[in-house]
Amino acid sequence: MDNLGEVLRYLRESDGFISGDRISGRLGVSRTAVWKYMNQLERYGYNIEKSKGKGYHLAGTPDRLYGWEIDRYRKTDVIGRRIIHRDKIDSTNSLAFKQALAGEPEGTCVVAESQEKGKGRLGRKWSSPAGKNIYFSVILRPAIHPSTVYPITFLSSLAVSDTIGELTGLEASLKWPNDVLLHDRKISGTLLELSTEADMVRFVIIGIGLNVNLEPKDMDQEIKARATSLSMATKKTFERPRVCGILMSNLERYYNLFREDGEMAICDIWEEKARIRGKRLEINQMGESYKGIARGIDRDGAILLDIDGKIKKIIAGDVNF
Ligand code: BTN
Repeated sequence: MDNLGEVLRYLRESDGFISGDRISGRLGVSRTAVWKYMNQLERYGYNIEKSKGKGYHLAGTPDRLYGWEIDRYRKTDVIGRRIIHRDKIDSTNSLAFKQALAGEPEGTCVVAESQEKGKGRLGRKWSSPAGKNIYFSVILRPAIHPSTVYPITFLSSLAVSDTIGELTGLEASLKWPNDVLLHDRKISGTLLELSTEADMVRFVIIGIGLNVNLEPKDMDQEIKARATSLSMATKKTFERPRVCGILMSNLERYYNLFREDGEMAICDIWEEKARIRGKRLEINQMGESYKGIARGIDRDGAILLDIDGKIKKIIAGDVNF
């Protein structure tokens, strides 16, 4: 944690005021430096009360996904060890991709308050209003063959669904390939972007959008009937840095499982949680519609659809229940 994070910790630990002397002693910096940190915190939107005799008091925290706020809840070694925060961005996936191309190590996350060109699957747009949700992208560099990379998308849905369970006690459902639903409405989606060579994956970007404090009035008309958020489902407001920290922790847990036990282990967990076997489905793939019974997930993440006794393997598409 950097000094700013430490200053915040001292302010939070002290019930009332904490003197500039105390902070400067603990940090080993001058009182002027402490004063500068306070001004910096104010610029970030923190409400700092200053009293000549008593020192400083933290009177308000902004609703922002700053890395040091996420760090309070993140229990990971790799994912989120560096967090790049932006108020506004075109797409967190695009910046993460650029950073990865420039050599950014595994685990770095790009987190934004809003996206101007949030990307969804199959060229769709991801509605990304400011300060309501979580939009984040993580760079991973798994040493795997490109053919085993797609199940990584399941890591993300599983992590999101566990996070929702932890925060609300509600059971989310999983929809192939990468949607998470609550009460039959979409609450989260994942966009995987890759850079590969013939035989190896250079890096993977997992981009997750999770609706947190979104209300119907913030929603674009076209998603109103199909989308939900944590707050809509529970009538509560959630601390977004906490949601993000828990999500990163769950993601790392599944990523470790993926690396240790392989992609099939993840596919099996996903398949069981999604209760997909035996389900009658209609899948649209590039304009074609296929109806059949799901027989499971292949090790490359494709769905196996039984169409009148013949198995068709579908790699990408949209499911209609
Ligand atoms: C989908 O369900 O269509 C996938 C949506 C993925 C949205 C997230 S938000 C963070 C990251 N940045 C993007 O531009 N897209 C992903």
